[in-house]
Amino acid sequence: KIADLKGTKQGSLRLGVITTTKYFVPRLLGAFCEQYPGIDISLQVTNHQQLHQRMLNNEDDLYILSQIPEDVDLNSQAFLDNPLVVVARKGHPLAKKSRIPISELNGEPFIMRETGSGTRQAALKLFNQHRVSVKVRLELGSNEAIKQAIAGGLGISVLSKHTLLSTSEDLTILDVQHFPIERSWYVGYLAGKQLSVIARTFLQFLIDETKSMEIYDFSKNGNGYSIAV
Ligand code: PGA
Repeated sequence: KIADLKGTKQGSLRLGVITTTKYFVPRLLGAFCEQYPGIDISLQVTNHQQLHQRMLNNEDDLYILSQIPEDVDLNSQAFLDNPLVVVARKGHPLAKKSRIPISELNGEPFIMRETGSGTRQAALKLFNQHRVSVKVRLELGSNEAIKQAIAGGLGISVLSKHTLLSTSEDLTILDVQHFPIERSWYVGYLAGKQLSVIARTFLQFLIDETKSMEIYDFSKNGNGYSIAV
């Protein structure tokens, strides 16, 4: 541990994080606050575009994201995989197939994240590369709402596997070629920013706690994160 916070009874930690970390960061903060009570925490959960704006305004100590903007000088490091997968309702006609050609997604009813979402951007990029055109039925600004819409039969979507860690008995991952889209979560701070002791300590805590972590395969092991073996 890099910093000794003993005696540091107060202070604040400002975090700006993308939507998919909301299943993970609050729990980690719980463990952190047990060790260092008395810290005020502000956690802003937004999409990539809004996080970008927060960076330009220097609003937070640390950021967690998966696509680093080109025009921001960020000291960052990857700490956990953040794959994007194709999610469907259980019982979807494609659910029993394996190695589904991506072209089979042509014309599929699809639920899309809002403009400004990194998930949307990554999915569209892959679809464009393979000249796949899905049929966007609905645009939603929330991963949870998309899961509900999938369960309700409105279509399929591309979501971070992290979003499937809570609930989801009705959902399944389709085995589509070129998926998962492999990405990572990065933690970073603006270059030149003088990090507080609290921010530095949390950064190290995050790196230490996630070193040996893996995402459960939710369909097999239930919900949560596991220690890699
Ligand atoms: P988004 O980011 O909320 O901007 O889609 C989520 C992610 O990239 O995991």
